[in-house]
Amino acid sequence: MPKVVAVIGAGTMGAGIAQVAATAGCAVKLIDTREAALENAQKVVANSLQRLVKKTLMEQTAAYAVLKRIETSSDLNQAASAAVVIEAIVENETAKAQTWTQLSTICSEMALFASNTSSISITKMASAIKRPERFIGLHFFNPVPMMKLIEVVRGNRTSVETANAAVELAQLFGKTAIEARDFPGFVSNRVLMPMINEAIYCVYENVATPLAIDEIMKLGMAHPMGPLALADFIGLDVCLAIMEVLQQGFGDPKYRPCPLLRQLVAAGKLGKKSGEGFYSYAGK
Ligand code: NAI
Repeated sequence: MPKVVAVIGAGTMGAGIAQVAATAGCAVKLIDTREAALENAQKVVANSLQRLVKKTLMEQTAAYAVLKRIETSSDLNQAASAAVVIEAIVENETAKAQTWTQLSTICSEMALFASNTSSISITKMASAIKRPERFIGLHFFNPVPMMKLIEVVRGNRTSVETANAAVELAQLFGKTAIEARDFPGFVSNRVLMPMINEAIYCVYENVATPLAIDEIMKLGMAHPMGPLALADFIGLDVCLAIMEVLQQGFGDPKYRPCPLLRQLVAAGKLGKKSGEGFYSYAGK
C-alpha cells in the first residue's frame, strides 16, 4: 500500500479521491491553488463521512481517523513524499501539462503518476514528465466514494508494471478497474457526452423542457438520472471541455458542443456547483 498519496486539485473529484485514499489507510496530501477549494473539500469529505456514520457504514472514530489522514496545502512541493500522485485539476490541457512538468521535478521518479482526466490524451500528458512509463489514466466517477468504476487508461508508453500497479491501487480503493485505450473520451465519455450534448440540443431546439427530457430518459431508458441533471452534477464547464476534446481529437463535426452549453458556461451557470445550470440549486 502506498504510504502517501498526493491528490492535486481539491474540487468535486479531488475531494472524493482524497476520501477514498484516506479510507484505504493512506496519508493524503490534498493540494489546490485555491484555499477556498481546500476548505470546501474538507467540509465535503467531513459531510460525506458523517453520512456513512449515520447509515452505520462507518464508526465515528474511523471517520475522524480518515479526516485526520487528509492534510491540505496550496504548495505543490508537498507532493514530494508521495508514492502515488493523482492529478484532478481543471480539464485543460495546458494547465495539466504545466502541473505535470512541475510535479516531475518535485516527485520521486519511482512514483506512480495518474491523471483523472475525463478525455485528454494520456500519451500527450505523459510526455510532460521524465518517466512517461510511470504515467497512467485513472478515471474515477462522481461521486467518487459511491461509484465503483475506475476506467484505467494506458498511454502509448505506459509500462505493464505501471498498469498492474494502477489496477492494484484501484482494488485497494475498493473499486473495479476496467481498461480502455487512449483515444479521446476513452469509452465512458465518448459514449456519455454526445448523449448529454444531444439532450442539450433538445432544450436549445425547444423539443421539450429539461424536466421532460430527463423523465423520458429515466422512465423510457431506465437511466437512474436524466442527462441534464447528470450534466449539472458533472459540471457544465467539464461537459463543454470534454466535448471540445472529442471535437478536436476526432475532427468530426458530430461532436460540436451545443451553443446553449457554451452560453450557460459563459454565464457562469455551471450546474450544481455554481447553484444553477439546467435546474436551480439555490438553497440546496
Ligand atoms: P472542479 O472544477 O470541481 O475542481 C478543479 C480544482 O482544480 C479546483 O478546485 C481548482 O482550484 C483546482 N486547480 C486548477 N488548477 C490548478 C493547479 N494548477 N494546481 C492545483 N489545483 C488547481 O473540477 P472536477 O469536476 O473536480 O474535475 C477535475 C478533473 O476530474 C478534470 O480533469 C475532470 O475532467 C475530471 N473528472 C470530472 C468528473 C466530474 O464528474 N466532475 C468525473 C471524472 C473526471
